[in-house]
Amino acid sequence: MSVDTLAPSTLDAPSIADRPYAAVTGAEIQAPLIHGGTVRYANLDYGASAPALSVVSAYLNEILPYYASVHRGAGYASQISTSVYENSRDIVREFVGGRPDDLVIFTRNTTDSLNVLAGCLPRRNGEQAGDVLYLDIEHHANLLPWQRVGHRSIVARETLAETVEAIREELAAGGVALLAVTGASNVTGEILPIAELAALAHEYGARIAVDAAQLAPHRRIDIAALDVDYLAFSGHKLYAPFGAGVLVGRPDWLNEGTPHLFGGGAVREARLDSVTWTTGPARHEGGSPNVLGAATLAKATQVLASLDHDEWQRHEAEIRAHLEAGLSAVEGVTVHRVFSDSADSIGVVNFSVEGYDAGLVAAYLSAEHGVGLRDGKFCAHPLLKRLGLPAGSLRASFGLGSRLEDAERLIAGIRQLRERGLGWDYVVDSGRWVPSNDTRSYPHWAPNTPGTAGAAPCTTD
Ligand code: ALA
Repeated sequence: MSVDTLAPSTLDAPSIADRPYAAVTGAEIQAPLIHGGTVRYANLDYGASAPALSVVSAYLNEILPYYASVHRGAGYASQISTSVYENSRDIVREFVGGRPDDLVIFTRNTTDSLNVLAGCLPRRNGEQAGDVLYLDIEHHANLLPWQRVGHRSIVARETLAETVEAIREELAAGGVALLAVTGASNVTGEILPIAELAALAHEYGARIAVDAAQLAPHRRIDIAALDVDYLAFSGHKLYAPFGAGVLVGRPDWLNEGTPHLFGGGAVREARLDSVTWTTGPARHEGGSPNVLGAATLAKATQVLASLDHDEWQRHEAEIRAHLEAGLSAVEGVTVHRVFSDSADSIGVVNFSVEGYDAGLVAAYLSAEHGVGLRDGKFCAHPLLKRLGLPAGSLRASFGLGSRLEDAERLIAGIRQLRERGLGWDYVVDSGRWVPSNDTRSYPHWAPNTPGTAGAAPCTTD
């Protein structure tokens, strides 16, 4: 079935050249300020969860009336939902340059995808046939699943060149089945040399899995050309925040591996006390699948694929250059990176402000400047510890709907902090810095006030 057969939206994909700021939902929301009044929310937290593309939310509304059971009904709406769901695999395969026989498995997110793969490592004579090798710079999604299985980790070196060499040495020692590596660091945005690492892994008889949670929303990826075996990413970072992620990759391990979710849809035949599992993506998609999540994720990939590549990259490079230069120029601010020789980064800038907890700076930026960014350890504890940032740092991340003005507001806020200090009192409440006596309110339908929102666990994780 052709990729476009079931793409009912009549909306054109947004052009960042023509209307760069109208492309995402929520681009104009107002954030209340602690001193009174409101300001357009400067969302610099795309790396955690990006806003939905306007085209994607329109598409969701278009298909929603046809939402029905997938693979389980003969009715008109069920047939449409099933077609949309299955066609989404083809769209995603095309987006990542997948091989015809690659499986496209819909999951909840990147973490889920990599857990699927962790359950599918090949076994020989009852033993895992080789270790998983990973670096210490990984997000927990590409670190903790491998701790369930035989694994080895290595510390990244000061340069990418030395790090690649360290990986080569470990691969050459033998016994590695899979090299699991991030496409771009979720902490600093630095891009890793994926084609080189894939060639290296294959030279030593291993396969390579790439955590593309951060890379896929910012760069075109062609896994066949890169010779990548497995690729994982999330809809919620790729402008389709509707609960789906994806794992794309070679079928043999995935067809043999432990089914990810034991349940309906994943079986060929179930008996009272035993089961014969099916093969293909359904093996790992037990239960009713998230058709709307998969369809919107696929739609977002079509939009990204249609963007003018140079315009897109120029847009993000301009914001990053502005942020790096502006923040570095403020006395007491340090911009962090892992590698001294990395030449390319996605839309992420990581920094600290001398004399201030990262969480306090984040609370100040939100309350006094209407800027949203992430603070903490970014689910990358080993890396933050090694960078000498055990208490965390700050991360500005951006993408299609971001404006240069957002970067300017952040820089001005940091400059003001260094020159004049905080303009309000802040206290720690449930482990988070919050303004004291906060009277800002949420929309009437939102349950918490800002003062109690910090009660959620792991907010600095
Ligand atoms: N993994 C997401 C991040 O890096 C949540 O912020």
